Amino acid sequence: MTPATPVAGRDRLRIAIQKSGRLAEPARALLASCGLSWRESRDRLFCYGESLPIDLLLVRDDDIPGLIAEGVCDLGIVGRNVLCEQDLSGKVNGSGARFRELQPLGFGGCRLAVAVPDSWTWRDASQLAGKRIATSYPQLLSKWLAEQGIEAQVVLLSGSVEIAPRLGQADAICDLVSSGATLAANQLKPVLTLFESEAVLAGPAAELEDVRGELMELLLRRLDGALRIRRSKLLMFQAPRELLPTLLPLLPDAEAPTVMLIDGEERLALQALCHGALTWQRLEELKRAGARGLMVLPVEGLLA
Ligand code: PRP
Ligand code: ZN
Repeated sequence: MTPATPVAGRDRLRIAIQKSGRLAEPARALLASCGLSWRESRDRLFCYGESLPIDLLLVRDDDIPGLIAEGVCDLGIVGRNVLCEQDLSGKVNGSGARFRELQPLGFGGCRLAVAVPDSWTWRDASQLAGKRIATSYPQLLSKWLAEQGIEAQVVLLSGSVEIAPRLGQADAICDLVSSGATLAANQLKPVLTLFESEAVLAGPAAELEDVRGELMELLLRRLDGALRIRRSKLLMFQAPRELLPTLLPLLPDAEAPTVMLIDGEERLALQALCHGALTWQRLEELKRAGARGLMVLPVEGLLA
């Protein structure tokens, strides 16, 4: 590969995101929550930044690391799986890493898993020896097989990996699993997880020097705030006053809870900013411990 030539005189930041697919909408929503807005081109491949000189390029996710490496785009939102796969193949063919993960983004969670036909009785990984495994992630799979000391044949497919066993092209597959619906629909079951993934912000290996470096810093700061707000929720409930010592340990992620005494000081009303996930399970636990009128509210803004 030829060395990247910096695009001279570009004074706008360009971010590559997936045009359609799992990460497309959440990526745009996250950037919009950082105060970015755009005017979309008629061919829907380019979004011109209106609120800030930050434009979007809508592309195939697999193209994003390459676009960053070549300097066509300055940043990208892509699955860690794609980034790591292409990083490994860059190492193998000697072109080296010219992009890196800057920030995990907390959405698009999935895992790279080996899946086998439902009819297999699964015991352990040694059953993969001598088998053909279809995947779009040959580097990650080969690395894992080598680490496990398993000799298997890697069958490279660029898409529709899940139908390979039925077509007789492979015995097993190694693919991304999110909800698991694709595997189930193809009579496959996941048996091993190789790699946990989520959407990440990717950028060039080297710092951006010009005005784009400043724009990138601004965006990273806003992203940090936007991600923090997303994780934060306001939790409110009431409970008998004497239950406070039982309830507080259930809120380890709460920031300085506000407790007010109500009903002639018999009961308490508590409100707390929680930074961890307030799952149904946690709410049920609080209810069992005596909390009533539980309410979880989104946070629109945070200023310490
Ligand atoms: C992955 C994978 C499966 C699907 C699994 O594709 O290749 O097709 O998601 O999701 P499920 O477990 O919820 O059914 P991805 O969205 O990454 O698209 P791409 O490979 O076409 O880029
Ligand atoms: Zn893809």
